[in-house]
Amino acid sequence: PKSLVLWCLAAFFCGSIPFGLLLVKLAGKGDVRAHGSGNIGATNVSRVGGKGLGVVTLLLDILKGFLPVFLAKRAGLGTDMLALLALAAVLGHIYTPWLKFQGGKGVATALGVILAAEPTLMVLPMVTFLFVLWLTRHVSLGSILAAAMVPGQFMLLAFSFFRPGWGVVVPWLALAILVIWKHRENIKRLQEGTEAKLWGGKKEDS
Ligand code: G3P
Repeated sequence: PKSLVLWCLAAFFCGSIPFGLLLVKLAGKGDVRAHGSGNIGATNVSRVGGKGLGVVTLLLDILKGFLPVFLAKRAGLGTDMLALLALAAVLGHIYTPWLKFQGGKGVATALGVILAAEPTLMVLPMVTFLFVLWLTRHVSLGSILAAAMVPGQFMLLAFSFFRPGWGVVVPWLALAILVIWKHRENIKRLQEGTEAKLWGGKKEDS
């Protein structure tokens, strides 16, 4: 339907706002893409512009995913439509038209859309993320495993009384694959043992 297309477009363009890039520029610290991992997300913003700026980026990137999906939910859109909107917002962040379609990795935006659409789906991935971060201090590894858990939970649910339909499962699966795919450089670095760690403060950590 026409209104679903409009909702998806709104979510996409909301997700496409590159807050990390804008904040680092506004703080007078140049182009975040030229430093650290080159990503525009909160992790790299905190490397380049400091923890405070990283936290603001994290919150704004969560919000831009949360808001369109939350409003759509309040307008009465069903779970399969919300799943599509969630995917659209994350696609907007990852393939933002404002940066020649070279955006971020979609982790914070994914967190926002999940919180709005299916908050219960967030519990296990969040616990996984925090545990992996605590254990390894690699944000990327925590993000990858947390992303995999989002659709992974549907497999568990498939054996329960609640059987999620393909209309719900496919967009969430696509979202997770996309986020993990965007971490391919991180995966390479993790294998090589050269991936940056959080809270290091040392030179090699950036
Ligand atoms: O949010 C992206 C995070 O998982 C990794 O960021 O900058 O270390 O590639 P970064």
